[in-house]
Amino acid sequence: MHFSASSLNFSILPYQEGYNPPVTKPNPAFLTEIGEEGIRALLDRFYMGLFESPIKHLFPKDKEEMKQAGQTSADFFIQICGGTPYFNQNRGAPQMGRRHAPFAITPEARLHWLVTFEEGLQPLIGKTGDENLQSFWDYINVFSIWMVNTKG
Ligand code: HEM
Repeated sequence: MHFSASSLNFSILPYQEGYNPPVTKPNPAFLTEIGEEGIRALLDRFYMGLFESPIKHLFPKDKEEMKQAGQTSADFFIQICGGTPYFNQNRGAPQMGRRHAPFAITPEARLHWLVTFEEGLQPLIGKTGDENLQSFWDYINVFSIWMVNTKG
């Protein structure tokens, strides 16, 4: 029997100062296949990972507050995948650059953020088409470059 090798590639694009590559949103099928509950569970895993990560100092110290922050972030990701605009409804226009400005996000912090996100994505392998998972990774891989606002 033949099993084709996974085509997933979770490699990290190098940060280059002064260059923000064009961003492409994730495939809407990522949301329709894993569902809102799938995105909420993903962001819960991710934020619980961040809570114990080398960049935990950037985030709320209180676990319940951190869980809540994960769900606000889930609102954003549901919206960016073409779903209900919960983030706009609850928090207003995304303006991610402005919202991240209070936090010193170095290229190294970005690496920890992405590595922690990848751990949260692992359980989704096989739950949606590889091309959908890849589109999600490509989106955060590129857009996280835009969030770097502090030299390492
Ligand atoms: C480059 C690495 C990044 C770091 C270190 C980082 C860090 C943070 C921190 C410290 C906060 C405030 C606490 C919180 O509400 O969670 C935050 C908020 C948020 N981040 Fe990021 N972030 C990064 C990249 C991104 C990217 C690429 C996205 C979207 C694709 C994103 C989406 C959000 C959202 C939606 C919020 C909540 C904003 C709000 O409600 O005011 N972040 N981030």
